[in-house]
Amino acid sequence: MMYNITVNKIKKSKIDTLDFNNIPLGRTFSDHMFICEYTDGEWSNPRIEPLELIPTHPAAMALHYGQAIFEGMKATKDIHGTPMLFRPKKNAERLNFSARRMGMPEFPEDLFLEGLKKLVAIEQNWIPPKEGSALYLRPFMYADEPFIGMRAATSYKFVIIASPSQPLFSKPIKLYAETKYIRAADGGTGEAKAAGNYAAAIQPTELAKQKGYNQILWLDARDFNYIQEVGTMNIFFKINGEYITPSLDGSILAGITRMSVIDLIRDRGYKITERPIHIEEIIEAQKNGTLEEAFGTGTAVAITMIEEIKYKDITIKVSNDNPVAEAILKIFNEIRTGKMEDKLHWMVKVEKELA
Ligand SMILES: Cc1ncc(COP(=O)(O)O)c(C=O)c1O
Repeated sequence: MMYNITVNKIKKSKIDTLDFNNIPLGRTFSDHMFICEYTDGEWSNPRIEPLELIPTHPAAMALHYGQAIFEGMKATKDIHGTPMLFRPKKNAERLNFSARRMGMPEFPEDLFLEGLKKLVAIEQNWIPPKEGSALYLRPFMYADEPFIGMRAATSYKFVIIASPSQPLFSKPIKLYAETKYIRAADGGTGEAKAAGNYAAAIQPTELAKQKGYNQILWLDARDFNYIQEVGTMNIFFKINGEYITPSLDGSILAGITRMSVIDLIRDRGYKITERPIHIEEIIEAQKNGTLEEAFGTGTAVAITMIEEIKYKDITIKVSNDNPVAEAILKIFNEIRTGKMEDKLHWMVKVEKELA
């Protein structure tokens, strides 16, 4: 279905104020936003407008009861300067998965994709040209009905904003396996990209950082034994020549990078298994010298090597030599810039004319 997305362009772009070699990460926003409202059971008035403050009633339900979900994805350019999106349909589907879990209305997937493409076409000059850099896109939905009382809201906003990001040359990270706090339990909201999951992780993550670790390695909520995920990444290990990653058990976010990395590892002829992973198995593998690689996967950096995991009083050191993970990272960057054939048809081109 074609939607009528109205466009109100800014008079003068702010892009001249941006130094592409020095982008303040997460603080720089492009000129426009896509916005759409849900009232009386339907989404209406999809439009692209200059990015500006959105008036919010103090009783807006998202502020009190936390009906708020989001997505994260990237737009890049191929060698001919055509903007491209990485598997955007997966983000549209995951947003609706999150919406269902949080009692929020689904957002039409075709409108998600149309709005996203139109916004990216209009903001194409904001896509940083360097390999590894991208225009980060943040679709999100929140309850804006002014109401005090615990029930599903009846009005919502769906918004997409865009923020240029430069190559993140990520150093290997150190993880703190948390044995006091949890991220998600069976039956909870861990599988949804709900704002509240991140809120609950902030204080434990700050404490881990004070102890000298970059991120938390979350363990299962029952016994703190089984590995879930890391901060905003899924986790992979290579033990004795075989790759393993925790299976999606309902408490782990189904990362789009995760599913793509699984395909690439398999494509390179390695065995990869999704299954529950006990922390003792990693400790044991490190002791007997079979722990070969550990890395995290996520939209922000694609792949980040893990050099150390602290679990209680045990320090698990991991080799810095990750040839396969590094090769996969390179493939990611090359597919995203059109330098490598996109055999798995992940990239979606954005027609520049949509602007
Ligand atoms: C909790 C969590 N796990 C995993 C991921 C990785 O997901 P993706 O690869 O879709 O970015 C993210 C980032 O979105 C996340 O927030």
